[in-house]
Amino acid sequence: MKSFLELVKFQSVDSMSKQYLPQFYTMLEQQVGIALDDTKQYLLESRLMPIAQQKGLPDVYALIKLLTQSPLGSLHWQVFEALTTNETSFFRDKHVFEALRTSILPELIEHRKKDRTLRIWSSACSAGQEVYSLAMMLREDFPMLHDWTIYLQATDISELVLAKAKSGIYSSMEAHRGLNDHFLHKYFESIEKGAFQIKPSIRQMVNFSHHNLVGDWPFYPKFDLILLRNVLIYFKQDAKDKVLSKMQQHLNGGDSVLILGAAESIYLNDLYKLVALDKISYYKSNTLIKV
Ligand SMILES: C[S@@+](CC[C@H](N)C(=O)[O-])C[C@H]1O[C@@H](n2cnc3c(N)ncnc32)[C@H](O)[C@@H]1O
Repeated sequence: MKSFLELVKFQSVDSMSKQYLPQFYTMLEQQVGIALDDTKQYLLESRLMPIAQQKGLPDVYALIKLLTQSPLGSLHWQVFEALTTNETSFFRDKHVFEALRTSILPELIEHRKKDRTLRIWSSACSAGQEVYSLAMMLREDFPMLHDWTIYLQATDISELVLAKAKSGIYSSMEAHRGLNDHFLHKYFESIEKGAFQIKPSIRQMVNFSHHNLVGDWPFYPKFDLILLRNVLIYFKQDAKDKVLSKMQQHLNGGDSVLILGAAESIYLNDLYKLVALDKISYYKSNTLIKV
């Protein structure tokens, strides 16, 4: 058992090493949007320990001190990236894809039949399963689009997941999360070690690029459909509001659609109106902003 003096010493070293946490949380929130606090220290420790070790530092708190005392650079971005959660799967939330197939896409296609162009953005796309699910669905269920211009943009802050998304290579376990045999056999090739690679014909449909939702927004065209799922859940309200307000300006008029994650919603916000379907809800722009 520790003596009282040892305990006091231990506690003061411990609190000293953690004194940079609030500054680090602010930095993370400003640069990435992700809101962390002391209740998530386990996450900090498990995700950042490998980086601290790699840098020869005694623990993650020494790493955090280093980050708060040095100008923003590649180590910061390596750490920020390690703190993103990249959980995803093919056809994640089947009700959303069912609604896209039976209701949202048919309506959009009807509205865009004069231009014969459809622009879709999977924002915070992680390793690409979401946008590839959409691409496969367009091929599978909407053959009438074969001579349309289909623009599929997919973006994420993490270069690691973007590299994986571009490769289109998934382990057997990843491929079997959400894909049935029909899709697996029709749109994937079996490669070494039981892994699967999505066929070039689907891969070529998607344009992947880096984009930080709380950074500068590059020029994008307006989109008919935006998926922004399971990322705002990690942001504080203020950051959420800013992203949602920018997103509204990227919708192609009042009939375009924004879909959030199942656990996410927009409230007290007059930029959007909620459209409730049987099993899901989504958003349309509340003001006509078509230019
Ligand atoms: C849980 S995944 C969601 C993937 C997919 N949208 C889905 O619902 O399955 C969240 C993704 O958001 C990305 N992300 C986190 N902060 C971001 C930011 N500031 N800008 C862009 N992407 C961000 C992460 O890198 C991660 O890949």
